[in-house]
Amino acid sequence: MEVDVLIRNAAQLATCAGCSKPRRGKEMSYDVFLEDGWVAISGDRIVGIGKGTIPREIQTGEDTVEIDAGGKTVLPGFVDSHTHLVHGGSREMELALKLEGVSYLEILSRGGGILSTVRATRAATEEQLYDKAKKSLDTMLLFGTTTIEAKSGYGLNMEDELKCLRVADKLNKSHPVDIVSTFMGAHAVPEEYKNRKEEYIDFMIEEVMPRVKRMGLAEYCDVFCEKGVFSIDDSRKILTRAKEMGYHIKIHADEIEPLGGAELAGELKAVSAEHLLAASDSGIQRMKEGKVIAVLLPGTSFNLNHGKYARARDMIEAGLPVAIATDYNPGSCPTENIQLIMSLACLKMRMTPEEVVTAVTINGAHAIGRGKDIGSLEVGKKADVVILDVPNVQYIPYHFGINHVDKVIKNGKLVVDGQRLVY
Ligand code: NIG
Ligand code: FE
Repeated sequence: MEVDVLIRNAAQLATCAGCSKPRRGKEMSYDVFLEDGWVAISGDRIVGIGKGTIPREIQTGEDTVEIDAGGKTVLPGFVDSHTHLVHGGSREMELALKLEGVSYLEILSRGGGILSTVRATRAATEEQLYDKAKKSLDTMLLFGTTTIEAKSGYGLNMEDELKCLRVADKLNKSHPVDIVSTFMGAHAVPEEYKNRKEEYIDFMIEEVMPRVKRMGLAEYCDVFCEKGVFSIDDSRKILTRAKEMGYHIKIHADEIEPLGGAELAGELKAVSAEHLLAASDSGIQRMKEGKVIAVLLPGTSFNLNHGKYARARDMIEAGLPVAIATDYNPGSCPTENIQLIMSLACLKMRMTPEEVVTAVTINGAHAIGRGKDIGSLEVGKKADVVILDVPNVQYIPYHFGINHVDKVIKNGKLVVDGQRLVY
């Protein structure tokens, strides 16, 4: 068979293959790295993979793109399973407040934080939001991310939530990076509903969520379950109704205060619970029982600068599948760089480089319901591949803060070459 792309000679090929379910516990220390690896691609699919001599049936022709990955490491495209991609404005002015010791929740309760981004997002046109989000998606792609999850939640009314979700939908159709959308109207209570939280929740449940679902603009529903934002009871109500409407559910749980969001995620059998810095032992246990994936966001801990990180080791040892993601947003984590997050996961949460690779590939894919199609390099899976200019997987988090990407292949097409966009 004449193939469209043939990558050969990889110093190390991390396939992350062989697990139809999220990897948990020791399975996360994936250690089958192939030396002298090759990957063959036809159309948008992987049609062959292995090490050493390439079998005769894999043939190249005049049109085949041949890539020599000598000295480099080849992995599945990174899956960033938690982002707040579409938003207006930025919040660099909060840095000074943070340095003075004003907490994240305090800034929010003064009408800043998320609410200041809501004002900027409402003021922005759909085109402006599209251009800004596209720029971020390009940056993500340059860092090796080929699929993301994107949450709404900076519109907080019908019109502006729909506007942001349409932007994500358009980008999903026009940009190489694939986007899985999450509705997060329960990200904060907007100013016009101040002291009328119950009414806001009912408006979301009765009007916005059914409409978003009917329009096919979001697969998942998420809630910011946090002290002073949405309580456990609020979150249970919203997510239970979301499930009835056909959404899969996620929850921002125990990010700052140990409210019991992890326990709720287990009770509701959420696909994932995210942040989890303050998750209790019983929360971890309930998540395990409910088969919930822990999506950890060490960049947020780093940027909130309070010295607290999620207990990744305890979670892995308890047998939870762990994914890591950027949480890219204008407040708590303004970075698109998944490789930096990988370094933080190692250094601050003591995850091994092998666990980290699992967490940004196959487990990230399962956290957004795409485990069957992406997240590993296997025959039949989508040809989303990154080629990093590093000699092995351990080197990725070790040499931190820079971009190791040499090439990115998305849906079988070369989209980044020599750290430049070529799509
Ligand atoms: O995941 N915690 C809630 N939402 C985001 C932050 C949003 C913002 O600060 O704008 C998060 O950290
Ligand atoms: Fe978030």
